[in-house]
Amino acid sequence: MNLETDYLGLKLRNPLVASAGPMTQTADRVQRLVEAGVGAVVLPSLFEEQIRAEADRDERLAEVGIDSFGEAMTYLIDPDSSLWPRPYLSLIERAAGSGVPVIASLNGSTPGGWTDYARAMQDAGAAAIELNIYYLPADPPLSARDAEQRYLDILTMVKSAVSLPVAVKLTPYFSSFDEMAVRLDRAGADGLVLFNRFMQTDINPDTLTISTGFKLSSPGEATVARSWIARLRGQVRASLAASTGVETADDVAAYLLAGADVVMTTSSLLRHGPAHAKVLLDGLTAWLERKGFGGIGEVRGMLAAGADAAGPGYGRSGYLSAVGQGTRVYGRR
Ligand SMILES: Cc1cc2nc3c(=O)[nH]c(=O)nc-3n(C[C@H](O)[C@H](O)[C@H](O)COP(=O)(O)O)c2cc1C
Repeated sequence: MNLETDYLGLKLRNPLVASAGPMTQTADRVQRLVEAGVGAVVLPSLFEEQIRAEADRDERLAEVGIDSFGEAMTYLIDPDSSLWPRPYLSLIERAAGSGVPVIASLNGSTPGGWTDYARAMQDAGAAAIELNIYYLPADPPLSARDAEQRYLDILTMVKSAVSLPVAVKLTPYFSSFDEMAVRLDRAGADGLVLFNRFMQTDINPDTLTISTGFKLSSPGEATVARSWIARLRGQVRASLAASTGVETADDVAAYLLAGADVVMTTSSLLRHGPAHAKVLLDGLTAWLERKGFGGIGEVRGMLAAGADAAGPGYGRSGYLSAVGQGTRVYGRR
């Protein structure tokens, strides 16, 4: 079965992409994912704060002189971290030889010179840039329009630094998500990745402490991303990447039917190991054969919102009938 697909103007051997996370943080891990069959990998993010810290450190080193380099390096930066800017570039260089496109990830929240780092990623051999704009409401608060404008400004800055395709990884938390997606598309985003995973801050009433972290996702969380992909299919020129809640080949198939160009996974690879990529791809092939499809192109967007225009799937009429159905089922208990 031919699973070839296009994403961001890149030819991929199949639509399964290992998304940004610990599974892509070393060249060895990337190699294992490539051997298990993935079509592309996204490296973990390099953060605005790290780029700014390294620039500050370089400035201070220039002031104090080269003799103090070793000491200052230990003091200012954890030298064991593999994901500070310079080690990050060498990860790109090593991973770029793995045989599939390697997408570098930049993560920030304010417009600034750090976005120029995209150029260094391009020079190191990245095939594309994924821009994760992770803006959390801060003091002073921004108006909704100003917060949205940040996304556009950061995208424009990164686009002007590189000739590579640039995808934007988004959160669903906009007042008018589809307008935001269309604005990003018009501003030149080559791809939209739905969705980013927010830090899961929580409060423990027993220990009176705050906890943070990322919990792995479950398939039930995929419905928001899937519905938005189905709605955006045909509305934007940008490629669409699904990122949330893939555990089985059926989850991959459902995202393709909604209209995703590629389907990403982090949680399932962390849960089951890199070989799970082969399980997903074998399952996808078996599903295509079982249903009599000749390839990904026949499936993509088959159940997108445009195709469902007269049906109840994505509109308010569907919502009303779902409420009625839920009331009938649960109202009897
Ligand atoms: C432990 C962990 C680390 C992650 N690190 C990053 C990161 O550095 N940059 C990024 O854009 N997303 C990061 N993500 C988010 C994933 O790329 C992905 O978008 C998210 O987990 C949803 O996909 P999933 O349901 O397949 O896990 C991370 C996720 C996890 C669980």
